[in-house]
Amino acid sequence: MKKLFLSGIILYASSLWADIIRGEAVYQANCSQCHSTHMTGGYGRDFNLVSYTRKKAKIIAYVTDPSEMYKEFGYTANAMPTLPLPKNEIEDVADYIDSLQPFKKWMKHQ
Ligand code: HEC
Repeated sequence: MKKLFLSGIILYASSLWADIIRGEAVYQANCSQCHSTHMTGGYGRDFNLVSYTRKKAKIIAYVTDPSEMYKEFGYTANAMPTLPLPKNEIEDVADYIDSLQPFKKWMKHQ
């Protein structure tokens, strides 16, 4: 039983890890021209900051339809395009952003 539980955790962790790796590739191809990850500036917010302050479900909602979400996030205008990404790639890039500050979940409010 203990063994089963442990292998369950390892399976879950390794599939999450795979999502994060795929998400980083989605980020490089589709977001990095506007968003940085190490506070190096950019057109949109740095993803380390996003990772501190936003929950994964909200990140998914934002990327799926920025024009629907920008007011809730406190913006007065929407300049981020709606990217034609499949749902699984949006989920993977959200896992990647979430992984940038994994121990700061308690700070998230949106
Ligand atoms: C053409 C530039 C551009 C691209 C490409 C882009 N974004 Fe954005 N993003 C923005 C801008 C500008 C904002 C600020 C709000 C707005 O204009 O909608 C933003 C806002 C966001 C926010 C809300 C940030 C917050 O916490 O306030 C998230 C999340 C986000 N982008 C994720 C992504 C992801 C993930 C990708 C790639 C799949 C991406 N963006 C691609 C320009 C871009």
